[in-house]
Amino acid sequence: MAYSEKLLDHYEHPRNVGSFDKDEEGVATGMVGAPACGDVMKLQIKVGKDGVIKDAKFKTYGCGSAIASSSLITEWVKGKTLEQALEIKNTQIAEELALPPVKIHCSILAEDAIKAAVADYRKKQGE
Ligand code: FES
Ligand code: FES
Repeated sequence: MAYSEKLLDHYEHPRNVGSFDKDEEGVATGMVGAPACGDVMKLQIKVGKDGVIKDAKFKTYGCGSAIASSSLITEWVKGKTLEQALEIKNTQIAEELALPPVKIHCSILAEDAIKAAVADYRKKQGE
C-alpha cells in the first residue's frame, strides 16, 4: 500500500506529542478508542479565557494513520475556537493525508478525540 508524503511526514515526525497536566487551568482531555482495531487516542487541548485553543497535545497507541491523524488535528485546532474545532471532519483529515479506505476509521478516531476533549472542557466549565 502506498502512503502519501504528508502521512509519512506526520507519522515520522509527529507534532505535539505529549500531555498537559489535566488539572491545569483550561486543559481538557479526550480519550477515545477505535472498536475496529482497539487503538486508543488521548488528545488534550488548552483553552484560553477567550475560548480559543492555544495548544494541543496527543498520545496515540495505534497505527501510523492514527498517529498521523492525531498529529495533523493538533496542528489544525490551534488558534481555533471550540465551535470551529468541532467543525473539523474526519473526511478532511482523510483527504489531507490521502488515507486508504481501510484507514478511514483512524481519522474518525481523531475527530472523536477532539469532540471528546471539547465536551470535557465544557463539562469542566459547568456548561
Ligand atoms: Fe491498530 Fe492499526 S490496527 S495499530
Ligand atoms: Fe485502527 Fe488505525 S486506528 S488501524
